Amino acid sequence: MNFSLGAEVDYLTADGEQIHIRPLVDSDLEALEWEGEFKHFHNLYAQHYASSLQGATLIWVAETREKKIVGQVFILLNSKQSDVADGKSRAYLFSFRIRPQWRNLGIGGYLLNFVENELASKGFIWLRLNVAKDNPHARRMYEKHGYKVIGSDPGDWSYQDDKGVIQHVKEPAWKMIKRLR
Ligand SMILES: CC(C)(COP(=O)(O)OP(=O)(O)OC[C@H]1O[C@@H](n2cnc3c(N)ncnc32)[C@H](O)[C@@H]1OP(=O)(O)O)[C@@H](O)C(=O)NCCC(=O)NCCS
Repeated sequence: MNFSLGAEVDYLTADGEQIHIRPLVDSDLEALEWEGEFKHFHNLYAQHYASSLQGATLIWVAETREKKIVGQVFILLNSKQSDVADGKSRAYLFSFRIRPQWRNLGIGGYLLNFVENELASKGFIWLRLNVAKDNPHARRMYEKHGYKVIGSDPGDWSYQDDKGVIQHVKEPAWKMIKRLR
């Protein structure tokens, strides 16, 4: 299934900051590494960006009026594991992050609602995600947004870092899901 890169929308925080939500473009990739904190994901982000151009992944960023990228969310539409994403009814959310200074302003919640509505309008029924067991704050936020824990995941995965070295991650997680429509 092929999709356009996605819609754009503006969100006004309670303290008057205007946040523009739009699809990721090539020139944003470096900003996703923050000040080097996420440099190790350089290749991973580039791969997902390439996949977004093929319509297999959707990536949105949240940008301030000054063009600073303060948030991001990635959606996998298709996966080899159909219980994660199957390209038509089930999608998978990952790499959802708001920069610390911009948290608790409603941006994350707005972005999550926006993504859910976009997916529902494209015919998706379920949105799956994994939340690390040591991240109760995020789990509570997802529960407030209607996600339910459906199991446990050992969270073993690997990626190639910015130096080309394969890194193995072990991040025990709760599997969560929400029915979108
Ligand atoms: C999880 C995360 C994306 C949430 O983003 P956020 O922009 O802070 O989310 P929101 O502001 O919408 O909601 C967070 C809290 O702020 C509160 N809030 C929402 N709007 C608000 C406002 N205008 N003023 C004050 N507080 C507000 C919400 O009620 C919520 O409270 P809760 O934590 O008690 O549920 C962010 O904390 C983050 O990036 N964390 C690190 C990465 C991470 O854990 N990602 C999830 C991986 S699965």
